[in-house]
Amino acid sequence: MYKELFSDDVGSFFRSPVREIFKKVDLNSIYSFAGGYPSAETFPLESIRQTMSEVIDKYGGKAFQYGATQGVMELREAVAERYSVPVDRVQITSSSQQGIDVCARVLVNPGDVILTSSPSYLGALQSFCSYRAEIVGVPHCDDIEKYKDAYVAAIAKAETSGSKVKFLYMIPDFQNPSGESLTLEERKMLVGLAEEYGFLIVEDSPYRELRYEGEHIPTMYSLAPDRVIHLGSFSKIFAPGFRLGWAIAHPDILDKIYVCKQSLDLCPPIFDQYVAAEFLKSGRLDENLAKSVTLYKGKRDLLLSLLEEYMPQGVSWTHPQGGLFLFLTMPEGFDAVAFYDKALSAGVAYVAGEFFHPDRSGKNTMRLNFSFMSPEKIIAGIKLLAELLADGLGLE
Ligand SMILES: Cc1ncc(COP(=O)(O)O)c(C=O)c1O
Repeated sequence: MYKELFSDDVGSFFRSPVREIFKKVDLNSIYSFAGGYPSAETFPLESIRQTMSEVIDKYGGKAFQYGATQGVMELREAVAERYSVPVDRVQITSSSQQGIDVCARVLVNPGDVILTSSPSYLGALQSFCSYRAEIVGVPHCDDIEKYKDAYVAAIAKAETSGSKVKFLYMIPDFQNPSGESLTLEERKMLVGLAEEYGFLIVEDSPYRELRYEGEHIPTMYSLAPDRVIHLGSFSKIFAPGFRLGWAIAHPDILDKIYVCKQSLDLCPPIFDQYVAAEFLKSGRLDENLAKSVTLYKGKRDLLLSLLEEYMPQGVSWTHPQGGLFLFLTMPEGFDAVAFYDKALSAGVAYVAGEFFHPDRSGKNTMRLNFSFMSPEKIIAGIKLLAELLADGLGLE
């Protein structure tokens, strides 16, 4: 009945298979490695309660009024200080998902090319599709020359077909879904290509501060501040319910994002911003973050040791130095989508890897989250998953 009335864009929307899983089952009733949820244990409820009360005392009605589209100055300043950037380069967003979406909205015309890794973050692929971008995924390759060649070939192909590459979307730190990070050399190479071919880089880095080992690697933004839009989020370092993030970029780019956001939400949530600003400035955020890092490091170590102990031969996995995910690869011919119903009815959930691949390759892969469940459930869930894999596939 409404078909004639929907826009052409609607035809390009696709549903998140991750959210479809959430609709089907109660995550607490099964072993769920599926979502990207932080552990509720990391939400500092008492501290939040106290800070909320302080914000009301300090700001009164201002905390509940409309505010500046760029975000409240207290939070912009706190983010600017944390990342050592000028405050006129900071826009507060209503979460980094919105940051991704506004980047696509201000940069992409239908048919424009967005380069990304393959696999890549599903929420970004959804957003890019909705603007009818052509998404070109490039698999990672440890050989940097071959890796560069693959990007150059993708750019050349776009140019030959008359399409314009607008930006490269990357999650350089503990990527969702693979858990892997780009080396400094790889970051420099990609920034070099952006400079050479005149496109931008959208650096999406919500997991950057969840590092469990190794040294921090410079952001792509720090390598080329006028070429890179850096997106950050409070979701994984504080609490996703606040729906707050930030974009750091050249003021000319931010100005377009600012106008775009006027029609989206007028301003990010004011009360939440004051709470986040107080949390950052008082050091409570860092105190809490340190606890989250310890908790997640323990869960990652547990998951890695369980995989080592229980997974059948022929299954391999990534070894993330941070973040919330790792990626499992089964032997060629395995179909993680087909296997999914069997796993779910036995009581264990994951996300099939092909959903993260723009060309729907990666059928023999799956993403596992390790932040959400308790250690006891991680242990039981991995034992069950390993049993199902060994049994259903004749693996040993
Ligand atoms: C890579 C990446 N970017 C962005 C987001 C969205 O985060 P939020 O909108 O909560 O900031 C996520 C969420 O899981 C993510 O994994």
